Amino acid sequence: MGLLSRELESLRGVIMTEEYSGWDPGRPGHELFDILKEEIRSKGQPSAERVREIASISGTTAAKVRGVIGYYSELKPDNSTVRVCMGEACRARGSELVAKFLANEGDTVGILHCAGLCTSGPAVLRDETIVPRSSTGTGLQLFVSMDSISQKLGSEKVVKSLIQELDNTVSITRTGSRGLYHLEPMLEVDIEGLRHAFGPLEPSDVKDVLNTIIGGNLNSHSLYLGEIDKHPEMLSQQRFAMARLGVCDPTDFESQLALGAYLGLMNAPSMYATEKVLDVLEKAGLRGRGGAGFPTHLKWEAASRERDPIKHVVANADEGDAGTFIDRMIMEGDPHSLIEGMVICAHTIGATDGWVYLRSEYPDAKRTLQSAIDSAREEGVFSQVGPNFDITIAVGAGSYVCGEETALLESLEGKRGEVRARPPYPTQEGLYGHPTIVNNVLTFSLVSSLMREGGETYGAIGTESSKGTVVAQLVGDTQKPTCVEVPFGGTVKELFDNHSSLEGVTAVQVGGPLGSVFKAEELANIELSFEGLTAAGGLLGHGGFVCYGSDFDPRSEVIDWMTFFRDESCGKCTPCRIGTQRALELLERIGTDSEKAGDRTLLADLDEVMTETSLCALGGLAMNPVRSTMKRWPASFGGENNE
Ligand SMILES: Cc1cc2nc3c(=O)[nH]c(=O)nc-3n(C[C@H](O)[C@H](O)[C@H](O)COP(=O)(O)O)c2cc1C
Ligand code: SF4
Repeated sequence: MGLLSRELESLRGVIMTEEYSGWDPGRPGHELFDILKEEIRSKGQPSAERVREIASISGTTAAKVRGVIGYYSELKPDNSTVRVCMGEACRARGSELVAKFLANEGDTVGILHCAGLCTSGPAVLRDETIVPRSSTGTGLQLFVSMDSISQKLGSEKVVKSLIQELDNTVSITRTGSRGLYHLEPMLEVDIEGLRHAFGPLEPSDVKDVLNTIIGGNLNSHSLYLGEIDKHPEMLSQQRFAMARLGVCDPTDFESQLALGAYLGLMNAPSMYATEKVLDVLEKAGLRGRGGAGFPTHLKWEAASRERDPIKHVVANADEGDAGTFIDRMIMEGDPHSLIEGMVICAHTIGATDGWVYLRSEYPDAKRTLQSAIDSAREEGVFSQVGPNFDITIAVGAGSYVCGEETALLESLEGKRGEVRARPPYPTQEGLYGHPTIVNNVLTFSLVSSLMREGGETYGAIGTESSKGTVVAQLVGDTQKPTCVEVPFGGTVKELFDNHSSLEGVTAVQVGGPLGSVFKAEELANIELSFEGLTAAGGLLGHGGFVCYGSDFDPRSEVIDWMTFFRDESCGKCTPCRIGTQRALELLERIGTDSEKAGDRTLLADLDEVMTETSLCALGGLAMNPVRSTMKRWPASFGGENNE
C-alpha cells in the first residue's frame, strides 16, 4: 500500500464510488502508471508476487498489470546514460551520427521520439535542467525565455552571466519563447513600457549588452534587434494562440491576467451559455489542430447534448508528431490559455472534471502547467465551472498511438493504449464510459483567444474552409528553424520564403511521420491550408514541416518510418498489426538484390488494404510517406522498371 498516496486513494474513491457501482478491474485508472514507473525506476522489473500486490493496490488483476508493463516503452528497465532523439527533425539534423559518437565515447545510448526540441536538434537528453526562477527587483527589468529549446540554445548560461554581472535590484523574469529560435538566447529589456531585444547572445556578450542598456544607446550594439513587437518577423505574423508567448512569467497569475487571460471567463461567466460559445466557435470556423481538422463546435455540441451528469474534458498533450512542439511551447509559455480553453469547454458541455494527457518527454511543461493549474484553482477559476471541478495531469509512458484519442482514453483508464472502435464516439462514451471532449492543446488555446477576440475576427482571416491561423513549425535541415503563427492561405513555399528558408532543402515532410513527403520545388503549388495539403495528396496534421537536406536518403527514411509504425502499432486490427511488419519486409527487399518478382505489386496491394481497412489513422496513413517518397525518388528504389 506504501506507494499509493492519500491523494490517489481519494481519487480512486471518487471514481469507484461515484462513477461505478461495482469493481472494474479493467479500469484501474492512470495512477497505475505512476505506481509502475516508480516501482521500475527504484526497484527494476517487478516480480510475479509484486505484480500481484500492485494489482491488488490498483484494484485490477495481475494479468492487466502485466499487459500494461508489456505495452509501454517506458515501463521497461532503462540503463541508458543518455537519450538521443530519433524523431524526423532530429534525424534530418544528424542524430544517428550523434548517437554513434556518444556510444563510442562510452555512453549507453537510449532513444526517444521527439522531446519537442526540434529547432535545436539533434536533441540529447541527460538530466532534467533546473531552471532558475524569476527574480523581482525594481530596477532594470530584464526578460529571458526558459522554454526548453531556449535552454538547449544556452539561455541558462546567459541568465547565470546576468546574475554574476548584476545586483539584486535587477529583475530577471523567465518567460516562454516568442518562437524566433534563430535569435535565441534573446535578452529583452523593458524601457518605458516598450520591450527591446538583443540576440542571439553568448554568455560572453552579456557584460557588453548590459553596458549598452545602461548607457542608453541601444542601437550602437550589433546584437540589438530593436523593439521586439516591431521586429519584421513579429509584424509578419498574426498571433492568437502565440499572442502571450514570451511576454511574461507564465506562472505569474496577475501578469497573465493583465495580458488578457481569463478575460471573458472572469468578467462575464453568464456569456458562457452553451449556444453562445458554440456560435462563436462556428463563426470562427475553428477546426481541431490535433491532425484531423474536425470542426470544434460540432464536437462540443454533440457532448453538450448528452444527458449524463458526469462528463470529462481532456486535453491531448501527447504531441507525438516529431517536428512539432507548439503544444509544449504553450504549456511552458502560456499554460493559462490551455486551462482557460478547457474551463470554457467544461462550462459549455457541463463537464465534471478535466485531464491533461501529457507526453513524458516534457518535464518542464509539466512543472509549469502544474503550477498554473494550482494558481487557477486557488484564484477560483475552477469554481466557475462547479465546486468539484479540477484539472489533473496524467503523464504518458512512451506510446505514439496514445495520441489517438480513443487509445489516449484507454491509457487514461490505466490500460494498454489500444484504439477503440467507433461508434460510440468519445462525445457519447469516452473516459470511463462518460461523454468526453478530447481536443488538442493548441485547439483549447485558440478557443480562449477566440472567446476574447470574437469568432468573427478570427473567422475573417484565412481561406474559405481553413479559417484563421496556422501555427507552422519549420524545422529539420533548414537554415532557419522557427515557429510562426500566420493566416491560412498563400503557398507553402511563401511560408518558407517569408519566415524560414528552403535553401539547400531537398525534401519536406508535412504533417508528422504519417504525412506525405514533397520535393522542395513542389511547395510553390501547394496552398497552405487543410484542403491545399489534402489536394496535394498529403495532410497538414499538427503543422510540422520537416526539411531534409542534400543527404536525404529516401530508402533509409521509408524503412525508418515503417519500423516506427510497426513498433508503435497498437495491434488491435490486423491490417496494421501484420501489414506494417509485411510492408517493412518488402521495403527492406525492394531495390536490393533480394527483391523478388511481385514485391512491388504486393506492396501496392498492402497499401490499399491498410489504407482502406485499418481501424485508425496509424495504419490508415502508414503508407502515405512511403508512397509519396517512392513516387518522387524512384531511382532510390531500383528505378521504375524493376517489375
Ligand atoms: C496515431 C495517431 C496519433 C495522434 N497523436 C495526436 C497527438 O499527439 N496530439 C493530438 O492532439 N492529436 C493526436 N491525434 C489525433 C487525435 O486522435 C484527435 O483527433 C485529436 O486529439 C482531437 O483534437 P482536435 O479536435 O483538437 O484536433 C493522433 C491520431 C492518431 C491516429
Ligand atoms: S491501425 Fe494500427 S494503431 Fe490503429 S487500431 Fe489498428 S493496429 Fe491499432
